[in-house]
Amino acid sequence: MAREQEAQGAQVSEAQIAVHWREEEYYHPPARFIGQANAADPAIFERFSEEHFPECFKEYADLLTWDAYWHTTLDASKPPFWKWFVGGRLNASYNCVDRHLATSRNKAALIWVPEPETEDTQAITYQELYKRVNEFAALLRGLGRVKVGDRMTFHLPMVPELPVSMLACARLGVIHSEVFGGFSGAACGDRIADSGSRILVTMDGYCRNGELIDHKAKADQAVAAARERGVEVEKVLVWRRHPGRYASKSPMVAGRDFFVDELLKDYRGQEVKPVSMPAEAPLFLMYTSGTTARPKGCQHSTGGYLAYVAGTSKYYQDIHPEDTYWCFADIGWITGHSYIVYGPLALGTTSVMYEGAPTYPDPGRPWRIAERLGVNIFHTAPTTIRMLRKLGPDEPKKYDYHFKHMTTVGEPIEPDVWRWYHSVVGKGEAVIVDTWWQTENGGFLGSTLPALKPMKPGSCGPGVLGIYPVIYDENRNVVEAGSGRAGNICIRNPWPGIFQTIWGQPERFVQIYYEKYCRDKDSKDWRDWPYLAGDGAVQAADGYFRILGRIDDVINVAGHRLGTKELESASITVEEIAEAAAVPVMDELRGRAVEMYVSLKPGLAPSKDIEDKVAKAIEAQIGKIARPKNVWIVPDMPKTRSGKIMRRVIAGISNFADVGDTTTLSNPEVVEGIRHHVQGEKLSRGQVPRELSPQEMEEIKAFGRAE
Ligand code: PRX
Repeated sequence: MAREQEAQGAQVSEAQIAVHWREEEYYHPPARFIGQANAADPAIFERFSEEHFPECFKEYADLLTWDAYWHTTLDASKPPFWKWFVGGRLNASYNCVDRHLATSRNKAALIWVPEPETEDTQAITYQELYKRVNEFAALLRGLGRVKVGDRMTFHLPMVPELPVSMLACARLGVIHSEVFGGFSGAACGDRIADSGSRILVTMDGYCRNGELIDHKAKADQAVAAARERGVEVEKVLVWRRHPGRYASKSPMVAGRDFFVDELLKDYRGQEVKPVSMPAEAPLFLMYTSGTTARPKGCQHSTGGYLAYVAGTSKYYQDIHPEDTYWCFADIGWITGHSYIVYGPLALGTTSVMYEGAPTYPDPGRPWRIAERLGVNIFHTAPTTIRMLRKLGPDEPKKYDYHFKHMTTVGEPIEPDVWRWYHSVVGKGEAVIVDTWWQTENGGFLGSTLPALKPMKPGSCGPGVLGIYPVIYDENRNVVEAGSGRAGNICIRNPWPGIFQTIWGQPERFVQIYYEKYCRDKDSKDWRDWPYLAGDGAVQAADGYFRILGRIDDVINVAGHRLGTKELESASITVEEIAEAAAVPVMDELRGRAVEMYVSLKPGLAPSKDIEDKVAKAIEAQIGKIARPKNVWIVPDMPKTRSGKIMRRVIAGISNFADVGDTTTLSNPEVVEGIRHHVQGEKLSRGQVPRELSPQEMEEIKAFGRAE
């Protein structure tokens, strides 16, 4: 990139370009909320101020039950491999289940809402959860060969069996690695191989948009994909969506595949003592996309992670044990791990899970669920909010529910969408937190503390308690608050929820997240090791951050990170394809969608058939979520003189935006032809563009700059 800038004679980095938008008005939390909030005394800011770091996090750790108390809050002697609560021992399953039995045995831990409205909602009490977790842990132990520190991959949809499986692994000290159920079998197989799992836990089928989806078929593909990478899955454990009734057409493989409901008969009532784990033992892996095709297995710890999600759930989600809390996300993503399962259950509250699509059978569904269950805390992503606004703008008014608190997470929310969320979904009664964070972080990094700071649509707020963010420019200078300039947002300090490493790739961990702004590689002082989040951001004079989006090659589709390299690698598995480039295109509902540009091998003619093959390859290798909006076959890609594809040029074309300076291209003449073809086609397909905001224009210009 540096060379390219030099070539262009650019004086400033694209992340530093000034961004202009209207400052939004503050909204203040309702008095009723403040009166009951867990954090209502401003003294809390002082307790978490920098001078009390790292001991401030004792307050979070003290929310847990420890088998042995720690002796060192933060051991920073091997940067950036931080160790939290060193010397402490605990079990996550015990903390989320067993310890609540004394006071809340028959209170609902999970309420599961199946997608078909004809099926009954299941309330699973803490006692019942205890039984299910123990029985499944006993089953896993009974299989033999499962020991502390082993990895186990799950490919499970939104069913109670998922948290049960997670907590059973945690009970045994086995590291779970859940792959989002919507991902393809091939993507699951890759993650199995990367983590070296020998057991895959899956389900025969699940309900989505009115259909019973055959899910077990993906397990067979996953096992085959893992085998190709040299990892043999020994056992596939298949939960059945309806016990006793197999919903898949895929045959069970004798000796390898087992129905969990059948095996469980031998373990009824069995109990497994929770294994007391060191605070630093890994609890789970969560894979995410990055700058290369190989996904990164983010390794999260037991003590630090659990303390961080319990603390942030208490103060930022304002969870009290008597609340009915619904995080409308998928447990297959970090949000679900932290804020459906571990955080809420550590606090002993009731966490609602919904199996299906937000608008099935109609866009009133979420509000019916909220009314029926008496949900008072609601948590979802902008993509869901946009969809519900579009398809049922007046639906919330028809239902008698009352939220005290709402969350948005996963992508920037447009102020206009925020206002609909506030006034229509929240009926003007609820406080909103816009929580900025990432798979790598365990829990929130930027948000307002709901009773103590006003909300500002489109901004996440300041750093959360104990998190000290800073924006740096490319030359390591601090970009001051209120300067109107954007830069790279970093966190200056370690925190308990930060991931420990990328599974099996410690060098990449250091390189991706710490190298850029590390002041001294030999330093043992954490102050020399700021964490690079990979997002562009601007800080207003009031200290609130506005997140602009990724600075690396990641496209955030409906709040889910897709790596351009992954999309491109999948495309070039189609034999006709010579080269491929993925770019984001603004999408009314999903925030961003993917568009693929591909060029063909010599002598081949473009065809609809090839376009379809590319889309299918992406769907098969990554999953439906990554399916491109359009595939454009171009005669040649715009390239720099050193042969790199200039993604910002094609991103500009796809978004009807400025393509920027093209004089440094080796083949500037191709640009007009591509523009003519793509924009003409888009208009004829009815994909009429809307005007981009200044912020979105900057995003497009900056796209691909990590190359
Ligand atoms: O670009 C930021 C965006 O989502 C990325 C992290 O994605 P993932 O690891 O999948 O985790 C999503 C849920 C924690 C970030 O780098 N992002 C996340 N939350 C916000 C956001 N962008 C703006 N505002 C947010 N609240």
